[in-house]
Amino acid sequence: MSEKTFNTASLIRKKRDGEELSKDEIQYLIRAYTEDKIPDYQISAFLMASFLNGLNTDEATALTESMLHSGIVVDLSETPGKKVDKHSTGGVGDKLSLILAPIVAACGVPVPMISGRGLGHTGGTLDKLESIPGFTVDVDLDRYKEILKKQNLVLVGQTEEIAPADKRIYALRDVTATVESIPLIAGSIMSKKLAEGIDALVLDVKFGSGAFMKRHEDAVKLAETLVGIGERFGKKTIAYLTNMEQPLGNAVGNWLEVKESIDCLRGGGPDDVMEITHLLAGTMIYLGDMADSVEEGIEMSRQSVEDGTAFQKWVDIVEEQGGDTSVIEDPDSYPKADYIVDVPAPQGGYVSEMDAFALGMASLELGAGRRAKEDSVDPQAGFMLHKKIGDPVKKGETIVTIHTNKKEMADAAAESIQKAITIKQIAPKPLRQVTHRVDTDGIHDHIV
Ligand code: URA
Repeated sequence: MSEKTFNTASLIRKKRDGEELSKDEIQYLIRAYTEDKIPDYQISAFLMASFLNGLNTDEATALTESMLHSGIVVDLSETPGKKVDKHSTGGVGDKLSLILAPIVAACGVPVPMISGRGLGHTGGTLDKLESIPGFTVDVDLDRYKEILKKQNLVLVGQTEEIAPADKRIYALRDVTATVESIPLIAGSIMSKKLAEGIDALVLDVKFGSGAFMKRHEDAVKLAETLVGIGERFGKKTIAYLTNMEQPLGNAVGNWLEVKESIDCLRGGGPDDVMEITHLLAGTMIYLGDMADSVEEGIEMSRQSVEDGTAFQKWVDIVEEQGGDTSVIEDPDSYPKADYIVDVPAPQGGYVSEMDAFALGMASLELGAGRRAKEDSVDPQAGFMLHKKIGDPVKKGETIVTIHTNKKEMADAAAESIQKAITIKQIAPKPLRQVTHRVDTDGIHDHIV
């Protein structure tokens, strides 16, 4: 890494005035901050200048590279084959990782998956995994490599060694209103993913009411930036633009989502979940060189669910990481929340819209999510949707069933859920689950 030093205030001024920073200048800022040579207030000013004036692809790549090399890049060469991961920009009811990771591993592609926790209205894969009694997501790097080598799959949380600069900078962004910047988000995501030791990456970039990017055009820009950075690091990267105008599937909440994932791996599960799962899994299988095309990968993905190998891989990884496999084999044996309350439709018609953000917040209030990073989550809390956009509904029919241990929250959550679901007399147009694919050749319409 460059040892050049610069005047920090001059670099902030340059970015403030809309000029481009060089790779050396960005490397200096990130390295000096990580080494405590620049105070929080100067990096905060740089972040705000970057937020307001943007970073071009060269700058975003330099930022990613600097944050990536603030820690170690894991060497996974002990495990043969191309290692492929998937990253989602986050949503409500997004349990896809739990389903596609065992599918892809069962199809012969190693999946080293480092995931995050839920924050605000979105859920996190780690909280879902930890709802399985005994399952541990905290492992050191040696154990991370050992599990991957043995199982072709590992499902863990971020270690201290992976992109530490991102961890510090993300915490600053959180309190300086600089999170929602496309190049800063892209640099943050890609520095962590590239440090995992992967060869290729599939990105699920969500748009809509429950997504980080509410507007489709912003999600497209984010996808293009992420793919551009991935390709510059020599990693094959494919992104899909997927719909988050309503929660994915029917289950929202940690254990409820694990249970739905088990249904999916056993050949059932909601159609919207399985459509996107097979597309992302098929793309990972293709990028891992186990299929000659995405279509062939999708076929292999379906086959692994049908023949039970994906479910067996799920049982194996739960056991390997210390989880209780009896609740995986028999999900109905899992203890239920104390209060299970049906929410009726206030009128008849068709479900025409859902405010997925408000539904995610209702799930948080029921105990499934956290407001601050230190909060704990209740694995049993959440809700099941019985109706989705386009479904007909009668007045008084149950649209949602709430699960909670906080009796005092049930009435307020039921009211928020009723408000978040719009029922009209005319059936809405069907939603497109996946609108586009973004790869090194640009953006393409996704045709089913
Ligand atoms: N997720 C990340 O990892 N980083 C961001 O900046 C936003 C979402």
